[in-house]
Amino acid sequence: MSEKKMRKCDNYAFTLLASSYPYLLIVLVGIGAYYAFNMGKIYQNSLPARLFDSSYIVKDYPIAEPKVVKAVDEAMLKNPTPQLIALGKEKFNTLCAACHGADGKGDGAAGAAMNPKPRNFHSNEGWTNGPDFLNMWKTLQEGIPSKGMAAYGVLPAEERVAMIQYIRTTFMQNAEKLTDADIKKLDDQYQITKGNSQPGTIPVSGAIARITKENDENAKKLASAISALEKNVKNDEGANLFYHSVVDYKTALSFLVENQSWKDGKDAFVKMVNKNIDVNGFKYKLLTMDDNDLEKMFSWLKALL
Ligand code: HEC
Repeated sequence: MSEKKMRKCDNYAFTLLASSYPYLLIVLVGIGAYYAFNMGKIYQNSLPARLFDSSYIVKDYPIAEPKVVKAVDEAMLKNPTPQLIALGKEKFNTLCAACHGADGKGDGAAGAAMNPKPRNFHSNEGWTNGPDFLNMWKTLQEGIPSKGMAAYGVLPAEERVAMIQYIRTTFMQNAEKLTDADIKKLDDQYQITKGNSQPGTIPVSGAIARITKENDENAKKLASAISALEKNVKNDEGANLFYHSVVDYKTALSFLVENQSWKDGKDAFVKMVNKNIDVNGFKYKLLTMDDNDLEKMFSWLKALL
C-alpha cells in the first residue's frame, strides 16, 4: 500500500468512528433509561416472599405396602434417650422450624404472615389442643387445619415421638414426664405402644402414571384441566387463586382428579388437601386462605373437574 493510500484509510476509519459516536451515545443513554425505569421491578424481585412457600419441603410418598406400624417402645415415652432427642431435633429442624423457629419461639420466617402465629413452645398460654403429650400427639396426628397447623400422621410414630420429646425437653417450661396412666390413655386412643395398621401408599407421580395408563377418562380430564388452567390463569380469578395455592399444579390437579370426595364442599376440600399437604402439590398457604377466595377457587375447580 502506498503511503497516500494508507493515510486515506486512516481518515476513513476516523470518520466512521466520529460519525457513529452520536448513535453510540443514544444506545448507551437508552440502556441507562431502561435500567432506571425498571429499577422498581428489579428491586421488587429481590424482596423475600411474604408468605410461606412450602415447595422446598414437598417430597413424594415412598412406595409403601400396607403394614402394621412398629410399636413405640414404652421407654421412648418415659425416658427418652439422647439419641431419640437428637433424632427429634433433626426432624424438628427440617419439618417444623420454618414455622415454629429453630428455638421453638413460634418466630420462624414462614410463620411471620400467619394468623394465629405458630405456637411458641416456651409459653404455657393459649394452646388449642393442649401442652400435654397426649394432645401434642393429637395435634401431629390430625393437625389443626383451620389454624394453619398441618397434620403429620404419615410420619413414622418413632419420629413423631422424637419430635415431641425434643420440644418438651428443650423448649417447654416444666413439661412433665409421662406416667403409666398417661401411656395407658395414649394406648387407648392411639394404640401408641401396640402398633397399628397403616394403609399402603404409592407415590403421587406413580399415581399420575397409573391414571395415564389405566384410566383413560381421568387422563383426559387431567389433560384438559391442565390446559384450561394454563389458558385461564391470567384472566380467571378462581384459576389464578388455585395457581397460587399450589407448588406444582400438575400434581395438585391429578390429586384432585383421583380423589373426588373433595367435591362435597369447601370444608371437605380443605380437609382432604390438608391430610397430606406435604405431597399433594398444595401449599400450606391454602390453610390460611380467605374464605371468599376459597369459595371462588373451589367453585372453579368443581366446574373444571
Ligand atoms: C406451616 C407452618 C407450620 C408448620 C410447618 C408446623 N406448624 Fe405447628 N403450628 C402452626 C400454627 C399456625 C400453630 C398454631 C395453631 C393454633 O394456635 O391453634 C401450630 C401449633 C402447633 C402445636 C400446638 C397445638 C396446640 O395445642 O395449640 C404443636 C404441638 C405443633 N404446632 C407442633 C408442630 C410440629 C412438631 C411440627 C413439625 C412436624 C409443626 N408443628 C410444623 C404452624 C406450623
